[in-house]
Amino acid sequence: MKRYEALAKEIAESIGSGVLRPGDRLPSVRQACASRGVSPSTVFQAYYLLEAQRLVEARERSGYYVAAGVRGRPPEPEAASAPDGGTVALEVSDRVFEILESTRARDVVPLGSAFPSPLLFPLQRLARVSASAVQQLDPWSTVDDLTPGNEALRRQIALRYLADGMHVRVDEIVITNGAMEALNLCLSAVARPGDAVLIESPTFYAALQALERIGLEAIEVPTHPREGMALEALERAILRHRPKACWLMTNFQNPLGSSMPEAKKAALVEILSRHGIPLIEDDVYGELYFGEQRPRPAKAFDTQGLVMHCASFSKCLAPGYRVGWAVPGRYTQAVARLKLTTTLSAPAPTQAALAAYLEKGSFDKHLRRLRRTLALQQTAFAQAVGEHFPAGTRATRPAGGYFLWVELPRGTDALQVHQQALASGISVAPGPIFSATRAFTDCLRLNYGHAWDARTEQALVTLGRIVARLR
Ligand SMILES: Cc1ncc(COP(=O)(O)O)c(C=O)c1O
Repeated sequence: MKRYEALAKEIAESIGSGVLRPGDRLPSVRQACASRGVSPSTVFQAYYLLEAQRLVEARERSGYYVAAGVRGRPPEPEAASAPDGGTVALEVSDRVFEILESTRARDVVPLGSAFPSPLLFPLQRLARVSASAVQQLDPWSTVDDLTPGNEALRRQIALRYLADGMHVRVDEIVITNGAMEALNLCLSAVARPGDAVLIESPTFYAALQALERIGLEAIEVPTHPREGMALEALERAILRHRPKACWLMTNFQNPLGSSMPEAKKAALVEILSRHGIPLIEDDVYGELYFGEQRPRPAKAFDTQGLVMHCASFSKCLAPGYRVGWAVPGRYTQAVARLKLTTTLSAPAPTQAALAAYLEKGSFDKHLRRLRRTLALQQTAFAQAVGEHFPAGTRATRPAGGYFLWVELPRGTDALQVHQQALASGISVAPGPIFSATRAFTDCLRLNYGHAWDARTEQALVTLGRIVARLR
């Protein structure tokens, strides 16, 4: 993060937490330079950025002040979810598909979308590198790059694990068509129809669809909006239901944005290992962290090969290329065979293209920019929710990714909010699509992965009005 961005973020956080209130004066440029040891131009750039986000306003000959309308971020949700603890036979309704479909129209403000803005990705550079990689493609790659996949790409992925302090062998990596296929293959490798699988509550709706597709029963485990799945509840569910797998996200969970602290990840792996239960770990947002370092996945604590780590380039580099992977531990051979017998392999050209891009070394630079952009957009979105939604609204403060989970005032019908918002050209993802029992009826997931501009702000104003009407 550049110095001015760090300064702007710090001030935005002080406004968000209520330390700085509307009408408060920001330190003068001279004071800020002296107290932080930065140049006047750094302070000016930070203040201009905050002004563009409408968090502060300049008053002639007087300085910068926290903007009048700013109410700060809404408070965080505090309580973990409380599913009833039983197994649920799944029936993901057509409604979910309809809702997902409605987020795809180009003329709709895509707050309900699962995808970040495609404009955030280095598509032109990727295209140039891909073109030359595909031109130089060895004819034998059609054979060589069959599952487990392109060796150069797997080596690049292994190097990224190494940079994050994890030793993963190239032959433990299976390239897949996006993380979605990796997750599905891992699930099929360990569970048979009728088996029970532990999932988060709320969970990524595609996990529900995957479980339903192969006739599994879901056990929803209480999940905290900041720290993820509750481990005592997890252990109780294990003893009661003898599940065959656990599927969850340890970093920037979809839809909550929750992240497990490291000690909790270690404890999670210890509990599952003690009971011999494989963990399907979905880590698609792991690279989108706003802190100093990539948070390690639960896989980093796995000594028995029980953790199946799944990720992809879809959210951080190349949406649409459909390249992901699994590191399935002791299930590597089973997963590779399932891949071979279902879709044979990932396409050779996209594998070669991504291997070439990763070798050229501009991935980290792109990621740094992407993380900065998302962090700033989160602040702007959250402030706008604080400003335009009625009192009683709460929103999570994820340390990465691009989703906010918003708890509306108790009793607000999120499905109605969805319908009325759509009629106004805005999509949202209503809470019930993230639960087998259609719970979370007064929650929404909002996507802040699209540019913060006047249209987006107006959409949040409209959404706030709809919520206030339906409250
Ligand atoms: C939590 C989560 N897991 C997995 C996926 C699928 O990733 P991919 O596009 O790489 O298949 C998504 C995409 O929306 C997601 O949000």
